[in-house]
Amino acid sequence: MDTLNFSPPSHPVASQRLPRNHGEVVPSQSAKLPLRALGVNLNHWYVVARSSEIRTAPVGVRLWKRSIVLYRDTTGQVRALDDRCPHRQVKLSSGLVKGDELECAYHGWRFNAEGHCTTIPYLEPQQKLPTCTIRPYPVREQDGFIWLFPGDATGEMPPPMGVPEWDHVNYINSVTTIECDAHYSFLIENLMDMYHGHLHDNYQAWADPRLESLEETPDRVHVHYQAQSYYTINKIWSVSQLFIPALRRLHPEPLDVSYLYPHWRAALGKDFRIYCLLCPIDETKTRAYLLHFTSLEGFPRLHKLPTWFRRSVKNLFFNSAQKLLDGLVVQDVLMMEQEQAAFEQHPDRRGIEVNRAIASVQRLIRGQGERQGERLDGEVV
Ligand code: FES
Ligand SMILES: [Fe+2]
Repeated sequence: MDTLNFSPPSHPVASQRLPRNHGEVVPSQSAKLPLRALGVNLNHWYVVARSSEIRTAPVGVRLWKRSIVLYRDTTGQVRALDDRCPHRQVKLSSGLVKGDELECAYHGWRFNAEGHCTTIPYLEPQQKLPTCTIRPYPVREQDGFIWLFPGDATGEMPPPMGVPEWDHVNYINSVTTIECDAHYSFLIENLMDMYHGHLHDNYQAWADPRLESLEETPDRVHVHYQAQSYYTINKIWSVSQLFIPALRRLHPEPLDVSYLYPHWRAALGKDFRIYCLLCPIDETKTRAYLLHFTSLEGFPRLHKLPTWFRRSVKNLFFNSAQKLLDGLVVQDVLMMEQEQAAFEQHPDRRGIEVNRAIASVQRLIRGQGERQGERLDGEVV
C-alpha cells in the first residue's frame, strides 16, 4: 500500500513521511501542507485515456500515484484494475487480454474483471487457487474518453462531467495532450487566469479580457470575463482564421470559464468551447487533455443536410485546431514548469496576485484536497 510521499523533497513539511493511521482522515495534517503539495479529492471521475487509445492490448495509465491497467473485454467494455500482479508484483499491462480476462506476462496467471485470479496454468491437482484480489475501478466510456472513479465506489458517485460537444454534429473537435512536470494547481490557475493571454500572442482566440463577476462554491468556481474575440464563425471558410491571423477581426464576446472540480471548461461567445480534462499523476506531474470545439450553429443551411453528411464535415475538420492547441500548450507548460521549479527552490516564497479568480481557485483546491478522498495510508475514504 502506498504511503504518501509528499514532494518536493526539499520542503520541510512536504518531505516527511506521515505516520500510518489506519485510514483516518487527518485534516490538520493536510492543512499544514502548502497548496502545491496537496492531494486530490479521489471521489470524482478523472479522465485517464481517450477511447481510441484503448484497443485490444492492455494499457497502463497513472492516476494520482496509482498504476492502473485498462483493457477491453469481448463485449468491448473497458475494464480497469490495479496494474500489479499479486504473484510477483509485475505490471499486468505487460500481459495480454485473453477473452474477458487479463493474463500476466510472467507466469500466465489470469484475472477476471473483478480482479479475482481464475487460472494458474501449472497449479497442481491438490492445490487451490489462491484468494488474491486486484482492486477493480469503476470506469465509464463517455464522449470519447475513459472516465475512472478512483475513490470510494461504495458511496454515492456523481456522474462524470461529460463533454456533450464531442459527438454532437454541430461541433468541430480538436484535442491535444498536456504533459506537465508541475502540480495540478498550477494548470488550473493558468486556465482560470485569462490575463495570461499576454503569453500567447497569435495563438490566443481572445484579447483584452476584463473580469466582471465571479461565483464560488466548494466544488465550482465560475468566472465571467468580457473579452474581444478574434474569430467569427459564419462562413465555411471561417475555419481558416485558425491558420491565418490576418483574417481575424476583433469583436466583443463574453468569456466564461469554470473550474468544475476536477476539470475545467470555457466558452468564448457562442462559437468556441474549450475543455481541460485532468488526470493528475502526483504532486509534481500532471497530465490532461485539452479539447477545442468550434460550433457550426451559425450555418442553418448545413443543419438541413443529412446527418451522415454533417458528420463527415465534422470528421473532415477533426483536429483542425490541434496545431493552435499545441502552440498554446508548449507556452503554458514552460511557464508552469518554471512555477513548479521556483516552488521547489523556495517553497515559502509567495507570489503577488491581483486576479481574484486565483484566490477562489486556491480555496477550492485546498477545500477539495483536504476534504475527503485521500487517506494518509494512500487508501480512500
Ligand atoms: S508475476 Fe504475474 S503470474 Fe507470476
Ligand atoms: Fe494559456
